Amino acid sequence: MSPPALPSADDLVRAVTSWLAGRRWFPGDDHSKILAGQCTARRVGEDMCIDLVVLVDQVRLNVPLVLTPGEPSAGVITRFEGQWVVDGPMHSAWWQNWRDQARRVPGCEREPGALVPAGSRMRLVGAEQSNSSFIIEGPAGPLVLKVYRTLSAGEHPDLHLGAALAGSGWTHVATPLACTHLRLDDGEALSSLLTPLVPGAVDAFAHFIDGASRGRDCRGQAQELGSVTRQMHVRLAEVLGTADPILPQELAGRVHGEIDRTRAEVPLLDADLARRLHMCVEPLGRLDRMPLPQRVHGDYHLGQVLLSSDAARWYVLDFEGEPLRPLEERSRPDLALRDVAGMLRSFGYARALGQRQARQADSPIDEGAACTWERQCVRAFLHGWSGGRGLDATEQAVLDSLVVEKACYELRYEASMRPTWTDIPLHALEEIAGGRTPEGPGRTAQ
Ligand SMILES: Nc1ncnc2c1ncn2[C@@H]1O[C@H](COP(=O)(O)OP(=O)(O)O)[C@@H](O)[C@H]1O
Ligand SMILES: [Mg+2]
Repeated sequence: MSPPALPSADDLVRAVTSWLAGRRWFPGDDHSKILAGQCTARRVGEDMCIDLVVLVDQVRLNVPLVLTPGEPSAGVITRFEGQWVVDGPMHSAWWQNWRDQARRVPGCEREPGALVPAGSRMRLVGAEQSNSSFIIEGPAGPLVLKVYRTLSAGEHPDLHLGAALAGSGWTHVATPLACTHLRLDDGEALSSLLTPLVPGAVDAFAHFIDGASRGRDCRGQAQELGSVTRQMHVRLAEVLGTADPILPQELAGRVHGEIDRTRAEVPLLDADLARRLHMCVEPLGRLDRMPLPQRVHGDYHLGQVLLSSDAARWYVLDFEGEPLRPLEERSRPDLALRDVAGMLRSFGYARALGQRQARQADSPIDEGAACTWERQCVRAFLHGWSGGRGLDATEQAVLDSLVVEKACYELRYEASMRPTWTDIPLHALEEIAGGRTPEGPGRTAQ
């Protein structure tokens, strides 16, 4: 009997649309924006592995599928013309196809097929977010395969920066081992990346939320994380270089604009707070030099770092940047202090969620104590990042402005997506606007 014909991309898109719209990694919240799809297929035994690329607005989504006649044990999306349509990585045929397509990352001595031999056990990592990651029990130890859900042609920062850091001998990153690419109209796009699993790792966000909820002293770990972050920035600058400085007035103009936009969109940011925030940005406009831009993490927060099981080592993950922004923008050199600002804001979220957790457990913590906990984490992190010297006036002015910019963005986001969370960025804006005195440094200083 001849194998069934390959369905058209349009038929497949129609078949998976409602499933797609329910995925965490689906951009937007309805399926009216799905514009088109394209697919390529490869037969593996009696199954068909299909690389379906779905265009949603400007975003190209990676939707690998398996069409199979035999009832699958997991990952079923729908039935289509007598076949089962399965979420690709949930089916063994997809992994066979992965082994055939994957390439070794330079520096890795083992072939993908040896790292992930047929019959390896695998499971999805926790809840899916921007991508889908799988833990594999490989013969040489546990591994993680990240399947990218957003495709962009060009040099992908997760592979490029991860390989550059690991290649420089830095041991706080999961070394890229193997990868696959998909051919798109405008070039090749990274579609999956294999790295070792960080054993028994705890997500730093969960770790610090727990610390905040119990009022635990987290200064030592925050300082160590600051120091690891500095090492990451130093290595990235050494290996991938720096770029020409931007004008401080240019950055100041952007941050002033961000305050105005937020004030216009979110009435919670009142005129007095906006005026004080503009004052916080003024020292930046008066600077005559700026730190040099360089490659940075790009989406740095506590959810992107893991603490390994012996609590001795931090690992930095996920150099992808914000996947919905154009790759070219994500790969542009930026200020290392932008990563620092991201992490400082993450301590603010950890503090607030820790307080909520404590309230739910009927052991609320005092507001003042919670704020002290956050300030201590921030100070310790900056102490570590600055190698114990403290930030100089230039760094402080840049950092204060980047924190304002980030918290303004958060306030707009929370106001439209999670209105009960607006107090978190608002607290940060009040804190930074209130902590500055004409003759003294801002609250982030040592
Ligand atoms: N090498 C790894 N070791 C252990 N856990 C990992 C590893 N890579 C990813 N994870 C887990 O998967 C989660 C998501 O990974 P991440 O690379 O941040 O992808 P995403 O783009 O989906 O955020 C991480 O927060 C972590 O819990
Ligand atoms: Mg991530």
